[in-house]
Amino acid sequence: MGDEKPRCILCNEPSTDDDPLLEVRGWIRVMLGQDGMAHHQCMAMTANDAAFSKGDVPWDISGPHPALVNLVETKRIVPGRVFEPGPGLGHDAVYLVSNGFRVTALDISKKAVSMLRKRIEKLGLDVDLIVGDVLRDGPTDGEFDYIFERSVLQTLPPTKRAHYVLCLTKILKPTGEYIGIIRGPRTPMPESQPYAFTRNMIEQLLSAHFRDIETTRVPSGFNNSRSEYFLVIACRR
Ligand SMILES: C[S@@+](CC[C@H](N)C(=O)[O-])C[C@H]1O[C@@H](n2cnc3c(N)ncnc32)[C@H](O)[C@@H]1O
Repeated sequence: MGDEKPRCILCNEPSTDDDPLLEVRGWIRVMLGQDGMAHHQCMAMTANDAAFSKGDVPWDISGPHPALVNLVETKRIVPGRVFEPGPGLGHDAVYLVSNGFRVTALDISKKAVSMLRKRIEKLGLDVDLIVGDVLRDGPTDGEFDYIFERSVLQTLPPTKRAHYVLCLTKILKPTGEYIGIIRGPRTPMPESQPYAFTRNMIEQLLSAHFRDIETTRVPSGFNNSRSEYFLVIACRR
């Protein structure tokens, strides 16, 4: 008695050294409507399901990100296999597949994947869709030319980021490239998601497994918002 490990308020499993519980905070707390301690993946799954079910999707910019459109139009990226973690409503996946790319997309939210599946079917397009956690369930066959992600890194707490970057390397071909649209610095820097990143933080994080890291300021994609975002392109080491 008294030595029992705390349990996740969402799955009721105890905290472990490999997967410690985190405090429910910020946007996640608003979506869950409760306080307490939970596993990161339980929070991500439950809060995002709630957001997509309610249609309360604050990151939606109603179309593909302009920086991605520019990369395709200028042929900086050319049709090949793309893995997209966290596609959400799927504007970028739909854009890529409509422009000749072959896309596999994986989202932790079942609701997001079912909504995106219906959209893809209605458009008569073909995207491989997977429900899963990119930190555990992503492909490891090293067959993708590109990883494209928008606003997924910003959902990961600091303790999960190095593992995320390692997972990305297993997805890419040896010549593959990571392309990310990443939330830039805020004052003060947030201590819960959505997190924010300086150029230095991005470079330090990626440089363990990536080289030739280009970080460019890009528009947020939101109407009337000048908030800072980065387009990051990096080659697998
Ligand atoms: C901030 S939203 C961005 C969605 C989309 N990329 C966009 O920009 O519109 C983050 C997305 O990542 C998904 N997600 C969060 N954590 C994840 C994880 N560990 N594995 C896979 N997907 C995850 C969420 O369900 C959500 O769809």
